[in-house]
Amino acid sequence: MYTFSDLSGTSLTLRPEGTAGVVRAYIEHSLHMKAPVWRLFYRGPMFRYERPQKGRYRQFYQIGVEVLGDEGPLVDAELLEMLSSVFSRVGLEGVVFEVNSLGCPVCRGSFRDKLKAFLLDVRDRLCGDCRRRTEKNPLRALDCKNPLCRELTAGAPHIYEHLCEDCRAHFDGFVKGLEGFGVTYRINPRMVRGLDYYTRTAFEAVVDSPRLGTQNTVAAGGRYDGLVKELGGADTPCFGFAIGIERVALLVDAALLREEPLFYLIPLGTEPQKSVQGLACSMRRAGIKTLMELRSGVSLKSAMKRADRLGVTYVLIVGEDELKEGVVTLRNMKDGTQKRLSVDNLVEELKEYLP
Ligand code: HAM
Repeated sequence: MYTFSDLSGTSLTLRPEGTAGVVRAYIEHSLHMKAPVWRLFYRGPMFRYERPQKGRYRQFYQIGVEVLGDEGPLVDAELLEMLSSVFSRVGLEGVVFEVNSLGCPVCRGSFRDKLKAFLLDVRDRLCGDCRRRTEKNPLRALDCKNPLCRELTAGAPHIYEHLCEDCRAHFDGFVKGLEGFGVTYRINPRMVRGLDYYTRTAFEAVVDSPRLGTQNTVAAGGRYDGLVKELGGADTPCFGFAIGIERVALLVDAALLREEPLFYLIPLGTEPQKSVQGLACSMRRAGIKTLMELRSGVSLKSAMKRADRLGVTYVLIVGEDELKEGVVTLRNMKDGTQKRLSVDNLVEELKEYLP
């Protein structure tokens, strides 16, 4: 948690994630009375007091999706399919969905005891963190990155083999759902999540890339069927995930991001100056990124120099001649090619140049 005192000595904690806030809003506004199932999303900055490294920051951005009121398992699979299609739309390749079930409080409890007994046998050789985890939260020991701990826990029991009948049927339904939607997955029986509210389905979307190093999870989530009740609401099954924007950005090639072109209007003369003002307004209203040369009486050369410095994609030149003929000259700043466009139809024609 990122906690600090403000100037009046009040202790403040910045939100580490969005799920708990969504659940609070759901309860506070009695959303379950208004519709049986809610499908919500959010995006924004989150804060965690972590040791910063590549792909891991103290302030980072998430896009989160939560479905409240549907016990799945098909909705779990559907949301992974949605995530997979988001990744392919931004050109992110090589994402592997690692999936597991963390069971329910009933089967997890007995699994925890079995795992604890296993860990106690090797306790003295585990790292300090895992020794503490053995007592407090033995499941987290399965997630330890320390090579010796991984070796010592290689033969640890798998929760998957200890699921109760309902949880097993849920997991099987989830996996079948993934197959139905055509989502490739890998069952990882050692995967446990860092947040405590998860039940049943848990997943991580990982990408093996040198650009990310060890922080290779680009999105993660799962089911949290007990959280609404725990925070004072009705018993409500939920599923959700959050995408780590910075990690995705580190992986997606800048070339794949479709940059919007910037247009620069250059009037040459007093009359053109007036007509250019009107053109700028119409272009902006149509959603075209537009700047205009505001200095009066500057030469074409000087205006072009500025356009170049501003990184403009296209220049639109309006001189006295163009004005008479009802046209503008469009110049592509990259390759220097020029063409004339009719003023009457300009905005429509420029839309062709947008991504
Ligand atoms: P989380 O696994 O803690 O889950 O975070 C989701 C994603 O946020 C991670 O997979 C990672 O991409 C990104 N992320 C987390 N911490 C950092 C950091 N320090 N720097 C950069 N990126 C980071 C959650 O937050 C849950 N609320 C997800 C969820 C929604 N579960 C159910 N509904």
